[in-house]
Amino acid sequence: MITQKCIDEIKMAARIEDVVSDFVPLKRAGASYKGVCPFHDDHSPSMHITPKLGIYHCFVCGAHGDSIKFLMEYQKISYPEALRYLAGKYNIAIEEEKKELTAEQEAAKNEREALLNVNAYAEKFFTNQLFESEEGRNIGLTYLRDKRGFKEETIRKFRLGYCPDTWDTFSKKAVADGYKPDDLLTLGLCRKSEKTGNLFDFYKGRVIFPILNAFGSAIGFGGRVMSQEAKGPKYYNSPENPIYHKSDVLYGFYFARRAIRERDNVYLVEGYTDVISMSEAGVENVVASSGTALTDGQIKLIKSQTNNITVLYDGDNAGIKASLRGINMLLAAGLNVKAVLLPDGEDPDSFAKGHRDSELKDYLEQNAVNIIQFEAKTLMQGAGNDPLKRAEVVNTIIETVAEVNDEVLRAFYVRECAELFQLSEESLQVNLKRALWKRMNTPSPSRVTNSPQQPVQQGQPMQQQLPNVVKPEEVPQTQQPPTDPLYDLEYNIIRLILKYGFFETNVRDVDADGQEVIRRMRVDQYVFNEFHAEEISFTNPLYQRFYQEYARLAQQFDSQDDLCKAFAQHDEEALQALAIPILTEQTPDCSPAWEQRFDMDTPRPDTDIECLNQEIAGCVNLFKMRLIDKCKELLIKELESEDLTEQEQRDIMMRIGELNERAKELGNLQRIVISSQY
Ligand code: CTP
Ligand code: MN
Repeated sequence: MITQKCIDEIKMAARIEDVVSDFVPLKRAGASYKGVCPFHDDHSPSMHITPKLGIYHCFVCGAHGDSIKFLMEYQKISYPEALRYLAGKYNIAIEEEKKELTAEQEAAKNEREALLNVNAYAEKFFTNQLFESEEGRNIGLTYLRDKRGFKEETIRKFRLGYCPDTWDTFSKKAVADGYKPDDLLTLGLCRKSEKTGNLFDFYKGRVIFPILNAFGSAIGFGGRVMSQEAKGPKYYNSPENPIYHKSDVLYGFYFARRAIRERDNVYLVEGYTDVISMSEAGVENVVASSGTALTDGQIKLIKSQTNNITVLYDGDNAGIKASLRGINMLLAAGLNVKAVLLPDGEDPDSFAKGHRDSELKDYLEQNAVNIIQFEAKTLMQGAGNDPLKRAEVVNTIIETVAEVNDEVLRAFYVRECAELFQLSEESLQVNLKRALWKRMNTPSPSRVTNSPQQPVQQGQPMQQQLPNVVKPEEVPQTQQPPTDPLYDLEYNIIRLILKYGFFETNVRDVDADGQEVIRRMRVDQYVFNEFHAEEISFTNPLYQRFYQEYARLAQQFDSQDDLCKAFAQHDEEALQALAIPILTEQTPDCSPAWEQRFDMDTPRPDTDIECLNQEIAGCVNLFKMRLIDKCKELLIKELESEDLTEQEQRDIMMRIGELNERAKELGNLQRIVISSQY
């Protein structure tokens, strides 16, 4: 781990214009620079470099970040690698700290390292056998090269190997070279004979496919028989062990990562040989699930690189229907899923072999269909004209659509499905609602529990009056539509404090005698006061996190510029990604309605204090009003519940009444805010 002090030093030294211009020619434009954006097919210089903030930002594709992010994206390297690059560039000595591990952690780490070491040894033994031994060359290499048609270059790239067809050549050598029998057994490289207690080779007489982790170390092996007559299953695989967790591994990921990022898509196939053949045919963004349904861990791995996945299905795969269920998992994880059906009798391996490189790519591109089309096509095959079966198919598809989180995309799919089956969209919407409802109510643990209602006092803070439903941490992302109207309001508040938090504004207030007075106050202070007084918080967890971090950073800096810079280069990727578009936006700051009212001469918050006042007070009030609306909605829903006592009903009615009062007050305020704009 590089020390924080060292990271800070590197960040201070790195000048964004310096770093970028090593790769992209830059032209000066006032206080900033412009260059052709390397992250999309750019023809005019759309990437802006802002030295003041230490960031780059492309106005066309939206790529943005600081020096470190630029290197990570441009060079496809990791965070520490980018730091090391910069340290080298600016002559900064890297300081590392050894994380203090507990004795237990230390032991586990040592065990893992020892096991990786054994696997590295085994991998070398197997490749050595394949290329150097007579048996390996005659049997293993002949099989891979001549029978399967892999180029030698490919065989070396995927580090394939061979285990001799003898009982214990490997076991004996490994033990003689000092490797512990226990480790060999744990890793599944050897087995122990029950009779004699001797070790024997697990992969005897098989070609070996090493399974690599994200850093390229062998964490497991698959061994394939070479003749149909051979005994045992087609593949032997490593057992679960401290370094091999099958559910977190995708075969080929190590080789595919770069291509997945570049193409922003990953092809998912079933087997080792599918990956190798497709990669050889030039489709390098390919990984295999190794014959089973995808797990959460594997989906996470994919999502770290891309949001787009294309699943390949064999033409004659009888298991398609079963694997369609796996697709729902991908959709629920927020991935954009497409599918390709290969011609009858082909799997990705055979298809890649039988076609020229460009044909494979063309086929994949031309035959990738969205998930609705794919399910319709495959499921309808068995349904024929039977209306009952057809209805069942439609329902299955709608259940799939319900897994999609994006509302707009869902609507699009419903329309597509309606057209496909010649049904009305309305009738499908009914089914969709039912499916959504079912889905929302299945993973129940995090769902709202109704705690006993407390009597409400006048003037109690707003968030407390909200039934506990609105606590953001408790609302799983899947249930919160991304287009929550509250989010827009919250975003606008964040925008204003980030850009103008240090500006002073006039705030209308009433003094102790009830007289209206105007106080001058910093914008951020105003927002904090309002939130504090009402005990409100952002419902969007990211915005709430921003708000906390802002509170912390605002105390450290004495200028808006410094604070903005800190956010633009923030260690937390999500905060950086939130801040940069705001800091680089070129649109006028006033809302569109204002634009119209003021026609040509729009007052801007940064030049016109009255404008800033209005904007900020308006936003905060509107946010409060929406919170009240939400509160009311929830209470009204509660009223509909049948098992309320009369007293409980009265309490709820009273609370709704109070909220109405409060909303009216805010509404009046809002009208003042709006009317004083004329
Ligand atoms: N698999 C396995 N054990 C088996 C059969 C299959 O672990 N007995 C896994 C392997 O990871 C294999 C994947 O399931 O790669 C897909 O199986 P299959 O399509 O039968 O194998 P292929 O990889 O296509 O191998 P080949 O082309 O050599 O038949
Ligand atoms: Mn195959």
